[in-house]
Amino acid sequence: MWAAFSLALICILCLQRWLRLRRWSHFEGFGSLSSLPIIGHSYKLNSTDFVETLEEFCRRFGRVFRLDIGVNPSVVLSDFDDINAAYNSEAFNGTHFHTIPFWKDVKGFNEVDRVFGVLTTEGAAWREQRRFMLMQLGEVGLKKADVLAVIIGEEVDKMIAALKLQKGVVNFSRFFLPVTNNIIWRLLTGKVTDVEDPEAKRLALLVGNAFAAMTPSNARHTAQANSNLIYRLSLLLGIPTVLDALNPIAETIADEINFYKGDANADNYIQRNLAEIDAAKPGQVHYGSRGTSHMKGTILDLFIAGTDTTATLMEWTLLYLAGRADLQEKLYEELKDKPSSVTLEDRAEAPWTVAFIEETLRMSPMGSGFAIPHMVTQDTFLRGHFYPKGTRTFPFLKLIHRCEKYFDEPNEFKPERFIDKETGKFRTNKHVMTFSVGKRRCPGEQLGRAEAFLFLASLVKNFTFHPPEDGAEISFDYKQGLVLYPKNAKLRVCHR
Ligand code: HEM
Repeated sequence: MWAAFSLALICILCLQRWLRLRRWSHFEGFGSLSSLPIIGHSYKLNSTDFVETLEEFCRRFGRVFRLDIGVNPSVVLSDFDDINAAYNSEAFNGTHFHTIPFWKDVKGFNEVDRVFGVLTTEGAAWREQRRFMLMQLGEVGLKKADVLAVIIGEEVDKMIAALKLQKGVVNFSRFFLPVTNNIIWRLLTGKVTDVEDPEAKRLALLVGNAFAAMTPSNARHTAQANSNLIYRLSLLLGIPTVLDALNPIAETIADEINFYKGDANADNYIQRNLAEIDAAKPGQVHYGSRGTSHMKGTILDLFIAGTDTTATLMEWTLLYLAGRADLQEKLYEELKDKPSSVTLEDRAEAPWTVAFIEETLRMSPMGSGFAIPHMVTQDTFLRGHFYPKGTRTFPFLKLIHRCEKYFDEPNEFKPERFIDKETGKFRTNKHVMTFSVGKRRCPGEQLGRAEAFLFLASLVKNFTFHPPEDGAEISFDYKQGLVLYPKNAKLRVCHR
């Protein structure tokens, strides 16, 4: 009798799901019948080369197609104009992160704001938290080029000194993580951390682990992210979840906050945020425990979003550098006469260095996968397609970054495409979308770019980079995580 009841229940749930999914049946791509409960069409993605699989789907189905990644009906967008129009419109600015059980557990939630912080909110709560975060980060360094250069510069000096002690082949996998981590920590707390500090190293590793686990092609993670039941069972049975990495980071943040008092003019984010909480009146978003939860959530977002991303960008940058001795010398020529502490103003006279980073953002696997998905918050028609409320949109970047319409010889690594032929200055190309576009565009872009420039300039001034063995080809194979990491980041380093 129980078996019959269970079977009937499963059938009812499947029917209910199928009826709901009919609203998405007009999209090209995979249909509702093949969308499994919990994981959707995720099983269609090749876990070893999901970029290749997506390219093949784009060839089969066109620029907009259905591919449910997880429980929500999802659509892959692979055309610049679609992504640009969507991500600049209010209706595409929602997020599904507040439906993911581990975010609720680690950041806390309430009915009005959903899950606290920036990354996991939408609507009025997201607007206010993002505005406040950007304003305060601007005050503690992001909008002050001189302060920012000092903060990053001190970390760069330590990194260069540490690298000088190493000989021969160096493994750059995760090499930059403690450095980017210390920079965020300094902006948040005002504290300078030693590069060998074990606590800082532990934190950096945890962030790296959290990032590495969060990929749509990790079946266990996808199931846990999309089913509260599976997630809770995993916790009960001691099966690893991303919480193993996120919880200790959140606890470290909570412990650290206890040492600070509010100060609206402090040189760090935490004290400024505490001052805002102290000044808030009942009912206001920064008031009381609601304000404290948003602060903790936002700090966690900054850690998660702001360390592994830039660290991985640097790994790819060095791989391209090692593969192109000619460009390495070109960069050295424009940097060699600058004082040992390079500043952010030097960017104006170092167009090749800036262009090198831009070309890495375009060409590397990091710029070839998915940008962060959004959730459509109301039924919307856009560029010939109807997107029902609740559609998740995944921007797939490779077809844009490798499109002949936007980039000449798109499969070649050519930083010169970003150099203006007449002025010799760096020029942007709006089709590079690694930081996303629109209203949720990465708020840390300025910091990420500043770090990448100062890191690269100092590395090029001090060292040359080569394949591990003479004559060996550099491999651009990748491992999956929330971003795509180099599979092998070992390089031979020589001192200049
Ligand atoms: C190479 C470095 C980086 C890359 C490629 C990158 C890329 C991205 C992308 C694609 C998004 C999603 C935007 C969207 O939802 O449309 C994002 C969001 C975000 N990034 Fe970055 N990021 C980088 C560095 C940073 C840094 C250094 C910080 C910290 C200051 C940061 C903080 C954030 C935050 C807080 C969000 C969430 C924004 C929101 O939901 O409104 N990122 N980033």
